Amino acid sequence: MPPDFSHIQPKRLPALIAAAPKAELHVHIEGTLEPELAFEIGRRNGVALPYESPESLRKAFAFTGLQSFLDVYYAAASVLRTEDDFDDLTWAYLQRAHADNVVRAEIFFDPQTHTARGVPFETVLCGMSRAITRARHELGISAALIMCFLRHLTEREAFETLERAEPFREHLLGVGLDSGERGNPPEKFANVFDRCRRLGLHAVAHAGEEGPPVSITAAIDVLGAERIDHGVRCLEDEAVVARLVRERIPLTVCPLSNVTLRVFDTLAHHNLPKLLAAGLRASVHSDDPAYFGGFVNENYRQAFASLPLTAADAYTLLRNSLESSFQNAAEQARHVDRLDALFSEKWGRD
Ligand code: ADE
Ligand code: ZN
Repeated sequence: MPPDFSHIQPKRLPALIAAAPKAELHVHIEGTLEPELAFEIGRRNGVALPYESPESLRKAFAFTGLQSFLDVYYAAASVLRTEDDFDDLTWAYLQRAHADNVVRAEIFFDPQTHTARGVPFETVLCGMSRAITRARHELGISAALIMCFLRHLTEREAFETLERAEPFREHLLGVGLDSGERGNPPEKFANVFDRCRRLGLHAVAHAGEEGPPVSITAAIDVLGAERIDHGVRCLEDEAVVARLVRERIPLTVCPLSNVTLRVFDTLAHHNLPKLLAAGLRASVHSDDPAYFGGFVNENYRQAFASLPLTAADAYTLLRNSLESSFQNAAEQARHVDRLDALFSEKWGRD
């Protein structure tokens, strides 16, 4: 553990963060689909997108909030049909993550977006699993899948999805809850999460992105969420903050997402420094990097360029990411040792 960061020159900090081992705990695989790949896959499957070109699709990325983003995101995902498509998408993401020194990726996927179009659950899962196995062998990156239920659909539909998933239980690390938060509180999914926990699946949930702090408490109490995705609105309620700190519940924060989806006006207004100052277990992630302007290192780079964050904060965020993963303690310790070694090197001291 390097307690002293005084040898790190501020101007070297971005390079240090980029080089550091980190865990990506909040990324939606459908949100990594770059417009060029969407058009390429659409062409080979004979699926037309409601945009003329990758450039015109990118021009539609002027979002006014979560729902306006989700409309484009679900439309682009409609090109994904075959096992090869899901393999290509996941392999492209894992190569990109490896380039950012991600050593562990716990990846969300939305099976209902695909099964609703007639794509079998097995196609989605087997394609992604193939890429994950290849990435472990060829890149040395560890990755696992978290199946998200779409909260704008019903709990009955979530149960149907879980039934489809059960034969593939060993391919799943956990379950999550995403899509439009407003009007779709955690309570709606209490029973299906109960069943998931009995199956030994980890539970996480998006909460406190557009929804109020009470939705964070409900995600923990009603769904058994072990991590909160986003959670940035917790600062509106002192009691919620106190609990998150006391119980050391991780918040997977996505700075570029929050600005693109208007949770904060600008990155300079993001509350990441306040989350850290409050003692919350926050870490930095990319959410839907193809749509929000950057993968995880770009989220760090821009956040550190716009906010009063220090080398100590960088160490805390990176370490939090590694220790908030669902990897076992020995794996986490191995990554933290590498992080410590890197932070102890000379970063500007002559
Ligand atoms: N699905 C993909 N990205 C999401 C986000 N930021 N919030 C909720 N659902 C999502
Ligand atoms: Zn998300």
